[in-house]
Amino acid sequence: MRNNLFLLSIGIMSLTLSLKLVAQTDHPMHLGIFTTEQANRGEAAYRSNCASCHANDLRGNSNSPGLVGMSFLFLWEQRPLAELFNTMRVEMPTDRPGSLSTATYLDLLAFILQQNGYPAGDNGLSATIGDVPSILIVAPP
Ligand code: HEC
Repeated sequence: MRNNLFLLSIGIMSLTLSLKLVAQTDHPMHLGIFTTEQANRGEAAYRSNCASCHANDLRGNSNSPGLVGMSFLFLWEQRPLAELFNTMRVEMPTDRPGSLSTATYLDLLAFILQQNGYPAGDNGLSATIGDVPSILIVAPP
């Protein structure tokens, strides 16, 4: 009986693992949820509105958090992409929060995702992303 339970739990564990792998490859963030045009516009907006604090390479400094790589994932992995977008839109830049247009915040999000290694695709990010709590941030492919 004990043995059977053990085998059963191994079975469930490997099933969850393979489901996870499937979920990873099919994850919306791996399929291209922003366009290259958005990311390019986002780069320009980033240079003029964000780089002064988060640095040109997005790695931040002692006062402002990095927006790429391990520090980004450490803070954001498994949290909704919607939350990242809404935080940025409401709180950034800290010296004039919410002062940019929604389109510009979308471009900035596209640029940050691109710099983190997520692929661009044919479909652009739209403002509805802020209302979709189900897309959780996963590591780039
Ligand atoms: C005047 C400095 C300053 C500017 C300009 C600025 N930020 Fe920030 N940003 C910060 C600080 C400080 C934090 C962390 C504290 C906080 O969340 O308020 C932060 C946090 C963030 C976060 C959340 C990071 C995290 O992991 O918690 C994001 C995303 C972000 N900024 C994006 C941007 C974008 C995009 C712009 C340009 C529109 C921008 N910031 C402009 C200082 C700045």
